[in-house]
Amino acid sequence: MSFRAVSKEALVGSFTLGVVFVAGYFFGKKKSPRMISKSHLGGKTDPLMQYVLNHSMREHPVLTKLRLKTMEDPMNIMMVACEQSQLMANLAKLIQTKKALEIGVYTGYNTLNIALALPDDGVLVACDISETYTNIGKPFWKEAEVDKKIDLRIQPALKTLDELLTAGQAETFDFVFIDADKVNYDNYFERSLQLLRKGGIIAIDNVLWSGKVINPSPDDADTVAIDKLNKKLHKDTRISLSMLTVGDGVTLAIKL
Ligand SMILES: C[S@@+](CC[C@H](N)C(=O)[O-])C[C@H]1O[C@@H](n2cnc3c(N)ncnc32)[C@H](O)[C@@H]1O
Ligand SMILES: *[C@@H]1O[C@H](CO)[C@@H](O)[C@H](O)[C@H]1NC(C)=O
Repeated sequence: MSFRAVSKEALVGSFTLGVVFVAGYFFGKKKSPRMISKSHLGGKTDPLMQYVLNHSMREHPVLTKLRLKTMEDPMNIMMVACEQSQLMANLAKLIQTKKALEIGVYTGYNTLNIALALPDDGVLVACDISETYTNIGKPFWKEAEVDKKIDLRIQPALKTLDELLTAGQAETFDFVFIDADKVNYDNYFERSLQLLRKGGIIAIDNVLWSGKVINPSPDDADTVAIDKLNKKLHKDTRISLSMLTVGDGVTLAIKL
């Protein structure tokens, strides 16, 4: 094939792609931002999501109870997707996590999942400011007999992270899940990276923020903070990374 022929085809190809892209862009603009594909929210009605759940979920019976209890709470949009939580528990196990950190607990579905993945002498430091939310989860942690592994700290997470650093716990954590207030995401990431050992994983939730990150409005502080961190992580040489479209988007950052 001659060079001319290739470039002609490439030209037609990119023109077609361009038309499809532009059409998709304008069509997409009419709709609201991407639905969060969490299985308990927008994803619930998607047959493919149902297939995924039907063929992969292995939810501990107490996790099922806690999930159903959480569905009674009006703020259940905040709960992690069960399929994402199972992925994170598997990752934590894969790297033989003994010490984990969770920033943003809510009713503690993921807290319970990670605690179940820890060995008997493992510990999960769980950070939240709300006793109202975390008290919903506590009885379930106890029922699953992992409450002794969960060190819940009710105060601003930044304070807890600074206390851990002051106590000489840098480089000792294996797994971190960041899922609290978005404006502090970069602060949480920087402190977590110090607390993490080499080869440890930081999972950062809501990195797609229902699609709002594509075109952040300057006065939307949450979206701006998430987009800024996404851009920073992409070129951060201290980590390797993957951005997954599971749930509301989760970035896995592995400390080099
Ligand atoms: C999205 S929810 C966490 C969901 C949870 N990871 C799960 O698996 O279902 C966010 C939580 O962060 C907590 N939060 C908000 N600001 C905080 C802060 N400054 N420090 C600690 N927790 C905070 C909220 O109380 C809320 O429970
Ligand atoms: C998933 O399982 C439910 C309950 O058994 C069933 O009603 C549904 O048809 C299944 N869907 C898919 C796509 O596998």
